[in-house]
Amino acid sequence: MKILIINGSPKLNGNTASCANYLKDCFEKNNIEVEIYHLGNKNIHHCNACGACYRNKNNRCIIDDDLNELITKVRMADGYVFGSPIHYSDISGLMKNALDRLFYVAGANGNYFAHKVGSSYVCVRRSGGSNGFHTLNNYLLYSEMFIATGSYWNIIHGTIKQEALKDAEGINTLSAMANNMAYLMKVIDNSTIEKPELQPKIVTNFIREDL
Ligand SMILES: Cc1cc2nc3c(=O)[nH]c(=O)nc-3n(C[C@H](O)[C@H](O)[C@H](O)COP(=O)(O)O)c2cc1C
Repeated sequence: MKILIINGSPKLNGNTASCANYLKDCFEKNNIEVEIYHLGNKNIHHCNACGACYRNKNNRCIIDDDLNELITKVRMADGYVFGSPIHYSDISGLMKNALDRLFYVAGANGNYFAHKVGSSYVCVRRSGGSNGFHTLNNYLLYSEMFIATGSYWNIIHGTIKQEALKDAEGINTLSAMANNMAYLMKVIDNSTIEKPELQPKIVTNFIREDL
């Protein structure tokens, strides 16, 4: 079993990265392999909303940048953690660019994330953590993921390098999340019960031409 942790910070050694390393240790103690994927040194454009992924259905985004490498990593993993710094009360633009495209391509190709275990966390100096945490969870909720929770909302406080590791309460909830996630993944892996069939999504809108 393998977990992919995506670090959505432009910093490769910032607080989000420190938390990713901390989580890696927790998962490895649970005998789960981990890869950390840093977005900070990648070139990832925003979604052009062209719909090519839904037409081509080839597990790729038509914008040929580093997002396609991330898609390959995602397809080889069994569980996912999404970590982002808070920028202006929400996730980083870098993370949003990546997740919009990643989840759109995933949806166009049978939904890689459905019925997989996932979790998320944010790193923040002071304020905006709940909003960003909610933004990350929206991707998981949309995709029918099984979400592993911590013992609080996964919002870790810190500003300068590695400061997040000194947020005892934040680190405590990450530790609980890692143990819960490892447990869920093992239960699912060992289960003989079939996962539910994926229902096709029904898409409606709110426009009524007759009014
Ligand atoms: C562009 C930018 C915007 C930020 N906006 C907020 C904010 O809205 N609220 C806050 O408390 N901290 C804010 N911060 C601080 C970061 O959330 C904080 O330093 C966090 O630990 C950074 O994580 P990192 O080291 O992984 O990049 C901002 C930082 C940057 C660079």
